[in-house]
Amino acid sequence: MQGGQASGTADLDQLVRSAREQIAAAPDEATLEQLRIDLLGKKGVMTATLRGLGSLPADQRAARGARANDVKNEIESMLTARTGALADARLETIGEREWMDVTFVPALARRGHLHPLSLILRDVKAIFSRIGYEVALGPEVEDDFHNFEALNIPAEHPARDTMDSFYLEGSPLLLRTHTSPVQIRYMQAHQPPIRIIAPGAVYRRDATDPYHGSQFHQVEGLCIDEDIRFSDLKGTIEYFCRSLFGADRRIRITGDHFPFTEPSAGAAVSCGICGGAGCRSCKGGWLEILGSGMVHPQVLRNGGIDPARFSGFAFGAGLERLAMLKYKIADLRAFLDDDVRFLRQF
Ligand code: DAH
Repeated sequence: MQGGQASGTADLDQLVRSAREQIAAAPDEATLEQLRIDLLGKKGVMTATLRGLGSLPADQRAARGARANDVKNEIESMLTARTGALADARLETIGEREWMDVTFVPALARRGHLHPLSLILRDVKAIFSRIGYEVALGPEVEDDFHNFEALNIPAEHPARDTMDSFYLEGSPLLLRTHTSPVQIRYMQAHQPPIRIIAPGAVYRRDATDPYHGSQFHQVEGLCIDEDIRFSDLKGTIEYFCRSLFGADRRIRITGDHFPFTEPSAGAAVSCGICGGAGCRSCKGGWLEILGSGMVHPQVLRNGGIDPARFSGFAFGAGLERLAMLKYKIADLRAFLDDDVRFLRQF
């Protein structure tokens, strides 16, 4: 029994030593909790030791019981101390692990913006909507009647040549060469009063150079009512040019020829770069911006409108041209190049 008692005490001493080492080495609270279960839990070493007391002789039981209780208390306080130390260490280093810079300003996402052609179209729409014009649209794939015939464009006209227009293979249809066919389509569907602008893409086989691409954009205008005169056309062109380019531009209206207008006129604005004196980007101080005229009586008839009762004017302008003039862009191809260095300027 002597030996048993001695080894029992030694066991407890050994237990305290190894518990101290393990608790001191525990890196975190989860490891400590596992140690607490292993040492003091229901199935732990201490519980087994205390339970074993019952089988000891009565004279040894009290001393060994007291020693076992001391050991249990010691382990408990070691666990508590280590838990506190770990918590203190965590708080001490929290500043390095969990910080945020409240002065940090994140880079704002770059906002997109409208393409210069969209900007100019938005201006044109706003200018005409103020005087009662609506926007009308037509198809980009057209037939011969709307693109040519109804507009008095005769069979021998060069625009009808396959060298100048894109025809669809195995079909009489073509990509519209101008927005003027929208005039016909709109007249066929509406009786006067008519006040519309018709913007959109048009296609020509012209060689591409700084001023011509095979796809570009036009905006068509049509105004038909009783008693519409050439002076109304002139006033509208002046209003449009002044609104878009500013009051200091001079406006020149000259005679021209288009098969679908009679009489026909062209409009030019004074060059914004040289102020009208003449420079490299203008023809003697002027820049042509649109074709126009009084709608030909036969064109009215082709659209189902009685020329004895109604008259009107029409005009057609190149949107790229308007944007080049307004924003001083030298090369038409810049509109299609997708070069952000160009696009970011607008
Ligand atoms: N359609 C013509 C072109 O593409 C432009 C034009 C001229 C339109 C006179 C018109 C107009 O409405 O009256 O060259």
